[in-house]
Amino acid sequence: MKSVLFVCLGNICRSPIAEGVARRLIEEGGHNITVDSAGTSHWHAGEPPCKHSVTVAHNHNIDISKLRARQVCKADFRTFDLIVALDQSNYNDLKAMGCTNLVKLGDYGHEGADVPDPYFFDGFEGFEHVYTMIESCVKKLLTR
Ligand code: 4NP
Repeated sequence: MKSVLFVCLGNICRSPIAEGVARRLIEEGGHNITVDSAGTSHWHAGEPPCKHSVTVAHNHNIDISKLRARQVCKADFRTFDLIVALDQSNYNDLKAMGCTNLVKLGDYGHEGADVPDPYFFDGFEGFEHVYTMIESCVKKLLTR
């Protein structure tokens, strides 16, 4: 695998964390893999990750504050070897767009579970759990 794209709904909470964690692991492991993230929606295009995602990544010494949201497009399905959906609804939307090189992040050690959408969480609580799940799955994904 040479390139991977993480996709959630807004590209401001979950997939930027996945991108940041993957970048760190790739750097540490000396892998030659390109990573990016995107959202199925355009709602937050151009925006930085949400503050709680920036904080939880920062707490793990990962800086995602410079990332900017963008919407996924069909060209991504050719550009990237693997498209990784953060939950089932993202997976279904990508499939409907014609994506075939598609997996769910939760398939890597979490029995296909959704990474919960923290956008509607009340405050910071929950983001640490989301981070832990993403980190564990991304580790498995990169060593598959
Ligand atoms: P994400 O979270 O998909 O993890 O970036 C969300 C961000 C924004 C919205 C929903 C989920 N929204 O409804 O605007």
